[in-house]
Amino acid sequence: MDSHTVRQKFLKFFKDKGHKIVPSSSLVPEGDISVLFTTAGMQQFKGYYTAPENALRDFGTKNVVSVEKCVRTGDIDEVGDDTHHTFLEMLGNFSFGGYGRREAIEYAHEFMTKELGLEISYVTYYKGEGVVLKDEESKKIWEELGIKDIREDGADVFWGPTGDEGPCGPTTEIYCKNANGDDVEIWNIVFNEYFCDGSREKLDQGVATLKKLDTLGIDTGMGFERLLATVQNKKNNYETDVFNSEKTREERIVADHVKASLFLISDGVMPSNTGRGYVLRRLIRRAVRFSKTPLAKKVEKIKKIYEGVYALDDRGEIQKEENKFRETLEKGMKEFKKGTDPFVLFTTYGFPLELTLELAKERGTSVDVEDFNKKLAEHQKLSQTASAGMFKGGLANHEPQTIKLHTAHHLLLAGLQAVVDKNIKQRGSNITEERLRIDFLCDHKLEDVEKKKVEDWVNDKISRGLDVVRREMPLAEAEKLGAEMEFGAKYPETVSVYFIEDPAKDGASKNGNIISKEFCGGPHVKNTSELGVFKIQKEEAVASGIRRIKAVLT
Ligand code: ALA
Repeated sequence: MDSHTVRQKFLKFFKDKGHKIVPSSSLVPEGDISVLFTTAGMQQFKGYYTAPENALRDFGTKNVVSVEKCVRTGDIDEVGDDTHHTFLEMLGNFSFGGYGRREAIEYAHEFMTKELGLEISYVTYYKGEGVVLKDEESKKIWEELGIKDIREDGADVFWGPTGDEGPCGPTTEIYCKNANGDDVEIWNIVFNEYFCDGSREKLDQGVATLKKLDTLGIDTGMGFERLLATVQNKKNNYETDVFNSEKTREERIVADHVKASLFLISDGVMPSNTGRGYVLRRLIRRAVRFSKTPLAKKVEKIKKIYEGVYALDDRGEIQKEENKFRETLEKGMKEFKKGTDPFVLFTTYGFPLELTLELAKERGTSVDVEDFNKKLAEHQKLSQTASAGMFKGGLANHEPQTIKLHTAHHLLLAGLQAVVDKNIKQRGSNITEERLRIDFLCDHKLEDVEKKKVEDWVNDKISRGLDVVRREMPLAEAEKLGAEMEFGAKYPETVSVYFIEDPAKDGASKNGNIISKEFCGGPHVKNTSELGVFKIQKEEAVASGIRRIKAVLT
């Protein structure tokens, strides 16, 4: 059975059981700003678990099925082994009040054993903890289906929520033996019975709470590449027909990363220095590093596999990014030959330590890795939230209203500095489609007249119709300009800075008055006239010396 057949079989099986086939959503999730990428089939259906009545309205049925494109970067270091990927497809059936445990388990059992002819080696069910009871019902259903090996399990079989909050619940997993004789988890069947008011991390720390949902929801996910390896009796995922028999770890990393990059690009992500674009850039750069030959061949092979399914990178972005990175490598190589310190090579030239080590080995010289690590640790301490900061900066949600609020956010910070105190610094921010929120250092509660003055200042800039301009520049230059940056964030060598200029005002400098300059991943509106009317809704304390403002555009 080739990959195409397995996908089609899955969709047809559930279609025949009253499910509507829904296409994969974008890898860039819509409407959930707390999630960077689509990581599971349920992402596009997240809202239906709390409002199941909408499913009937939108799909004409309470049950849907999909093959979802997913990107997960959490396991990036394990890519290269037999089963981990950054890009994967997930087969899933979902129900929002249409059916419960029994059908979900019976369908999965039937599909695995009858449609695919696989043997289930064992299944799991949730042991129960806190408000969540032991899942005796699932256990019983499996027993009735004749499964002998049924195992009780803990936190691993409680799934979700994704992002900042959402549906979650106990799961039952299905394991099969692969060609190596190892048991691999093939299918995860989640019973969304709860709504968690915090992230998974908070739930695990005991600081988020679970509220029972009115309707039990079904969310299942079957890792397609693993399933295929089992169905095709292959020893690893790379031997299946969605890969090209990559053998070494390096070859596999290249294949995996090129594939993920192609799909990200086809969903509109572009290499950049913040947010999703930065993840993409890292994937491509890693692929270049691990590849012995130019990536073009790999790109073509992967495009061929997905021919007719997706239109992948028709703008040649991978090629462009590769060219850029190869320049970086060349420059770094020159510096290396001059004997430049490996840490400087890394921070100033973006030249990875692994390469320095490889080159040194070729030349029979040695590298002081301990010294490098010491310098790196100091550097990271200085820049505090190193990796978190790297992934921050861009807006996660690109809805027009969110983008407007983003620009208003820059104006508000500038307004606070202009009207209240020029030393005001931002300490946090959060923007949704409805409102913006800024936390900033300030030693007093804002008076009503101050709030009014800030509002007027911002609205004046809006009515003046000022251009919002983005410029890419070296980090050092942006710092010299005194552009606003997030405290504690680590920035890449090249950053983008957004400027808002008010040339009409006073004409104090020949370049006009720059009223706002901020390090920022964007996006922003082109001109402030697009914003509407700015209004402060609330001003309050969040911590000693830190105030918070919530504001809207009407
Ligand atoms: N949402 C579940 C998962 O991703 C099915 O494993």
